[in-house]
Amino acid sequence: MGETSSRGTSIRSTEAYGRTTQSAIYRDGATGRRPRIPSNWAALEVAAERAMSREAWAYVAGSAGNESTTAANRAALDRWRIVPRVLRDVADRDLSVELFGRRYPTPLLAAPVGVLGLVDDEADVAVGKAAASLGVPYIFSTQASKPMELVAAAMGDAPWWYQLYWSTSDELVASLVGRAEKAGAKAIVVTLDTHMLGWRPRDLDLGYLPFAHGMGIAQYTSDPVFLRLVDERIAAAIPSERPRITPATIRTLVDITRNYPGRFWANLRSPVPRASVDTFLDVFSRSNLTWQNLAFLRKQTSLPIVLKGIQHPDDAERAVKAGVDGVIVSNHAGRQIDDAIGSLDALPAIADVIAGRIPVLFDSGIRSGADAFVALALGATAVCVGRAYTYGLAVAGEAGAREALRNIVAELDIVLGLAGLNSVNAIDPTAVTRV
Ligand code: GLV
Repeated sequence: MGETSSRGTSIRSTEAYGRTTQSAIYRDGATGRRPRIPSNWAALEVAAERAMSREAWAYVAGSAGNESTTAANRAALDRWRIVPRVLRDVADRDLSVELFGRRYPTPLLAAPVGVLGLVDDEADVAVGKAAASLGVPYIFSTQASKPMELVAAAMGDAPWWYQLYWSTSDELVASLVGRAEKAGAKAIVVTLDTHMLGWRPRDLDLGYLPFAHGMGIAQYTSDPVFLRLVDERIAAAIPSERPRITPATIRTLVDITRNYPGRFWANLRSPVPRASVDTFLDVFSRSNLTWQNLAFLRKQTSLPIVLKGIQHPDDAERAVKAGVDGVIVSNHAGRQIDDAIGSLDALPAIADVIAGRIPVLFDSGIRSGADAFVALALGATAVCVGRAYTYGLAVAGEAGAREALRNIVAELDIVLGLAGLNSVNAIDPTAVTRV
């Protein structure tokens, strides 16, 4: 590969990415340069907590209730062990996968994570650049700290998808999806498990919700339909001040949204930011969404539609019948329901029922390349990670997010070879055993 620094290695399929990364790290070490973030999960967690405010740590690391679903996600992964095979030619290894007619260099995606402005001022832009440098698709969050157009521009031609929270306003849904398609998204991921925020004691006990402080609503405050809703709200509340939102105000709002990841809003005395937050809290999501609504989304976009939050085989079958293009088996990394099944425990039955008709992606609990291997063995085509790159971002900004993603891919490549396989597509249930 001819790269000399652990910063510079990019991923192409069919190359020894893991060894190249290891070598670069050890070579850097010989000249006194250490990786920016720990590759050990427990150490990464400690470093990330240190790097974050109390509120940020509570929001990012916290899960629902007593956090038993997060433990179940781990326990489910830990029950499966990889069975090494030997004396096979695994010198050339192919990590690439095909999703919706596109080949991606690895089976890793950066999951949507909201309010990254809590952990880093560059937020989604930093993660976008990190993911782009590796060819890892980044699923932009609807609760982002930076507008999608800004992140897309920072990523150049690299692939990204858009995650949608289905608002109470279909017009807003259409606008967000239309913007995503126009800005170059390659798929729309609809998150179905968060039509209400889960019961999250860490946030509740601090009385802290970032959105209430105007953080993580940049997709909204950069949206013309949302701004019209804000305008209507202000007009209804204080008619004498109308029109508060003029084209100039919109330009200022968009500018503020772009340049400040949200904190600025909390300090503004003007009713516009306050009305923006209140409007957001009203329109964020809806609990009366049903399978019937998917037809509306299909009409808005020609992009592949992927349903995120599937945990039951019957819902998976329904998704295929509804004509969607893929599903993500996910329990929102344990953030929504306490005492829920581990996400990996849901995967085999869903993969069985889908039977290759559409891709099955996996999310919730993946911390390492070996974890990714297990999920791929049980039927996933690709896996998503969220907290891993968020912790990397907190510790070392864009470079930290990049290292977090890179480390997972590098370990996956090494595990693949050591398990006696030369392609991620060859990972099947015989590569693991349940203990
Ligand atoms: C969603 O935005 C979450 O907080 O998990």
